[in-house]
Amino acid sequence: MIIAQITDLHVRAERKLAYGQVDTATALENAVTHVLSLDPAPDLILFSGDIGDEGLAEEYALVAEILAPINIPYFMIPGNHDRRENLRAAFPLAVPVKAGAFSQYVIEDYPLRIIALDTLDEGYGHGRLCAARLAWLDQQLAAKPATPTLIVMHHPPIITGIVHMDALRLLPGNGDDASAPGLEGAQGLAAVLAAHQQIAGVTCGHSHRPIHCLWHGVPVNIAPSVAHQVVADFRADGPAAFNMEPPAIQLHFWAEDRPEQGLLTHTSYIGQFAGPYPFFDAQGRLIT
Ligand SMILES: [Fe+2]
Ligand SMILES: [Fe+2]
Repeated sequence: MIIAQITDLHVRAERKLAYGQVDTATALENAVTHVLSLDPAPDLILFSGDIGDEGLAEEYALVAEILAPINIPYFMIPGNHDRRENLRAAFPLAVPVKAGAFSQYVIEDYPLRIIALDTLDEGYGHGRLCAARLAWLDQQLAAKPATPTLIVMHHPPIITGIVHMDALRLLPGNGDDASAPGLEGAQGLAAVLAAHQQIAGVTCGHSHRPIHCLWHGVPVNIAPSVAHQVVADFRADGPAAFNMEPPAIQLHFWAEDRPEQGLLTHTSYIGQFAGPYPFFDAQGRLIT
């Protein structure tokens, strides 16, 4: 089973540049072309948030237009730049939640069960996993304890070391607290995960660069953006800054016959690159 993860699209209405600089609509078109060129095709695509830049219906209409050629199932969760109602209204199949306060749901149709968890605290940059969301997650995990499960959510539960991203906490009083992850309730999440054995991993977006770690024994992955990356600046006073490192998607492989490997994540760069060149041995013979 192959899952493509596309994250942090930040598409703006009328193809306006994000941050006055990044052509995010074209970046998404390139990502779609890239995914459609994959052989074998992924079984499904997860869009892990920041789909629009301001959560506007016009942005989602443009995203829908760009995604129209996609002929495999895809699912979405909101990021801090999204608005739940607008996203649900534009993508009722990709956000299969009819009612309730949160856009979270379970994808059951594949060998790897996927729980889409909503970390949005609408209007704020940081994420939030309140008691209701954590209780829902616990319930879903308890329902199928023997089925390997991937959790997808926008905000990572970890401190990445990129201080301006970690400190993205805009609630009055929270200040720029870089000693806590930009996800309220991260410790509660750790407690829920510790109570279940079937977690294959947690995959996130938001940080705009690929980051991987083991967190409380659970593999945590952050996917790069398909538009722009955040500079890997670990200085305590490092400014908020992005760059145009190559955009990429990730391909998560789940092999039922190799469970000892867990979930395998490849980063797959988008763009035109020289090659592929065949390998030749020292005698000039083609290596096949
Ligand atoms: Fe983002
Ligand atoms: Fe984000």
